Amino acid sequence: MRMYDMILKKRGGGELTPAEISELVSGITDGSVPDYQTAAFLMAVYFRGMTKAETAELTGCMARSGDMVDLSSIPGVKVDKHSTGGVGDKTTLIVAPVVASLGVPVAKMSGRGLGHTGGTIDKLESIPGFQTALSVERFYEIVRETGLAVVGQTGNLAPADKKLYALRDVTATVDSIPLIAASIMSKKIAAGADRIVLDVKTGSGAFMKTVEESLSLAKTMVEIGGHMGRETAAVITDMDRPLGEAIGNALEVREAVETLRGNGPADLVEVCLELSANMLSLAGKGEIDACRALAAEALSSGAALERFRRMVAAQGGDPRVIDDPSLLPQAPHRLSVAAPRGGFIVSMDTQRIGLASVVLGAGRETKDAPVDPSAGILLKVKPGQRVEPGEEIAVLLTSREETLAPARERFYDAVVIAGERPAPVPLLFARVHQNGVEWLDNRVN
Ligand code: URA
Repeated sequence: MRMYDMILKKRGGGELTPAEISELVSGITDGSVPDYQTAAFLMAVYFRGMTKAETAELTGCMARSGDMVDLSSIPGVKVDKHSTGGVGDKTTLIVAPVVASLGVPVAKMSGRGLGHTGGTIDKLESIPGFQTALSVERFYEIVRETGLAVVGQTGNLAPADKKLYALRDVTATVDSIPLIAASIMSKKIAAGADRIVLDVKTGSGAFMKTVEESLSLAKTMVEIGGHMGRETAAVITDMDRPLGEAIGNALEVREAVETLRGNGPADLVEVCLELSANMLSLAGKGEIDACRALAAEALSSGAALERFRRMVAAQGGDPRVIDDPSLLPQAPHRLSVAAPRGGFIVSMDTQRIGLASVVLGAGRETKDAPVDPSAGILLKVKPGQRVEPGEEIAVLLTSREETLAPARERFYDAVVIAGERPAPVPLLFARVHQNGVEWLDNRVN
């Protein structure tokens, strides 16, 4: 079918056949379909949506558009974990060593920061010497030796997604559930794990702003995973406030190490235990509650910290940073942010806080810009807490002093302080698995 006819069919609300979707993805990948037609197609999907069958087919074709990682030489059930993106989300640095220490291998490909959200690869690269671009053979070898490795995506993983994502970014078609689901799941399927746990974020710092949208995305992705023979579970977690107290690459590594020592902030620990429990359970280690207890024990015993240390050393990083965090990049400039008035912290617009950290240098303002590994924000308060006028509510850190004042303005714009204590909000909303949805209600303030 001609591309024009496929656009017309989708624009009219028709359902594309598997053969049509396959032809479309091949044409996008090899460049024979021009960007203007792909962009028109994306907008048609944005307004008309896709059926379950179309979304699953699109995901499969996108996954097969490049390399398919084969993890079969690594013994055991390999479980991957993916977050839809957040601010202060350093869970991979904790969850991967927790589950690896309990005998579940983690061979993970992660991404860099995107927009206001941070990325695991940028965080790990703040550890002096840490290598994220390894050959596939070395990647497998490290997983066989230490039980885990976290590397950047290979250049040819789901190339159709790279093209589609770049076009979606500039045509206002990012926030479409079938397109997000196909984008995330195609990369997870191509990355080779047997089972997948998704952390679907919801709230002001997430791509999905409401629980309903997040639930719909989670159900779509869980179904696609099942359809492709990769059992998938999702947890819907709060991103209406940053996770933990540290935002920024080296700052988050430091907080992750503290959490692996058993001294993490309560919200971060809770989300990590939930994700670890789901990964362990999918790997056949038992029911969720029993797996949660195993994960808690891996944190309190130091077993997970030792796994992290081994991974850092195996990937060329300086493992001394674990006992001496002053060896991590340190920002030369800092600014204490004071509460402009007294009252309760009612809300934190998490996207704006993420953007304030980008201004400081923790993320990229242009695609290929380097990040400042030392930059970021340390939160001294979270929503629900009471503050006195002038009390320190955050510390901003950077290598570029001139960014402090504009970042502070953004930070102030993001934080609402008022006289009334806000109602508590859940941290964990729901688990979504093949058999349905299980609502959770775990209030944090
Ligand atoms: N992350 C992805 O990889 N793809 C999307 O479409 C959105 C978030």
